[in-house]
Amino acid sequence: MMDVPNKLNLPSYKEQAPDVKARLDELKQQPVVIEVEKLVKEFPTEEGVRRILDQVSFNVHKREFMSIIGPSGCGKSTVIRMMACLEDITDGVILVDGSPVSEPGADRGMVFQKYTLFPWLTVMKNVMFGLEISGKSKFDAEREALQWLDIVGLEPYADLYPAQLSGGMQQRVAIARALANKPKVLLMDEPFGALDAQTRAKMQAYLLQIWEKIDITIIFITHDLDEAVYLSDRVLVLEANPGRVRELVEIPVSHPRSPDQFLSPEFLTTKIHLEELIHPSAEESQDEFEVVKMAATGVG
Ligand SMILES: Nc1ncnc2c1ncn2[C@@H]1O[C@H](COP(=O)(O)OP(=O)(O)O)[C@@H](O)[C@H]1O
Ligand SMILES: [Mg+2]
Repeated sequence: MMDVPNKLNLPSYKEQAPDVKARLDELKQQPVVIEVEKLVKEFPTEEGVRRILDQVSFNVHKREFMSIIGPSGCGKSTVIRMMACLEDITDGVILVDGSPVSEPGADRGMVFQKYTLFPWLTVMKNVMFGLEISGKSKFDAEREALQWLDIVGLEPYADLYPAQLSGGMQQRVAIARALANKPKVLLMDEPFGALDAQTRAKMQAYLLQIWEKIDITIIFITHDLDEAVYLSDRVLVLEANPGRVRELVEIPVSHPRSPDQFLSPEFLTTKIHLEELIHPSAEESQDEFEVVKMAATGVG
């Protein structure tokens, strides 16, 4: 283990203040909305079948904000795509409210890193899209779309086209569009990954505000550890090759969250722990370095 925490005299990430413990205990009493059981994903490759995810199991509770982190290629996007049924399940099961998922559905909204708005539709029409498909009248769809645009602070921009908006605003429209279908779960795959640091910070604050306002469970993939700690109740850490659950970490930071907490001892100690889980110290990954060195020698 790193000795940095000791030098800084930080508490263990497992120490929870009474308010944090009470909140997490209450959360774990809530019904399970998503149950992932022994999930396996294999892809065929030239060298044979490759197992990407191996027996991944975890539960997400109602109103929880869970982030998933892990080294690049460990299967984070694959897990979330399987939840949305955009990818077949090799083995295991994903239950939403107790029923196995078998096809994409309005109960699972998705927001991706890339902007996925329809460029030929106005902001308003983008948000109305799913509402009209679900059979709502134009009048009702418009009224509801406006409410969602209001929640993400974009009502004044309803008549603009996506290209006329900044990246952050486009992602807010994407969030409004996903939420308009009243999903049980919002699945977000690095939604702020393409934004600059300042916009990203604003989006994090927006997302927390929205999450506090409405009854929604969020699963959020990120590779930004600050973002994971700042937003989440719990963080699922995956390891790679094959993707397995390394640890499900409870975040010991009080609510409501605010940027002031970034430098608090409990925030720092959790971030250091997550960093250790994802990038084991040089000693542990020595083998990997050997390979790199040999490869480099080979090239030279
Ligand atoms: N359709 C596919 N066919 C073959 N391999 C895939 C496919 N989709 C993803 N993979 C592989 O699965 C692994 C996990 O991918 P992904 O879920 O995108 O990882 P992450 O999101 O954690 O970076 C990667 O090694 C990727 O190359
Ligand atoms: Mg990914």
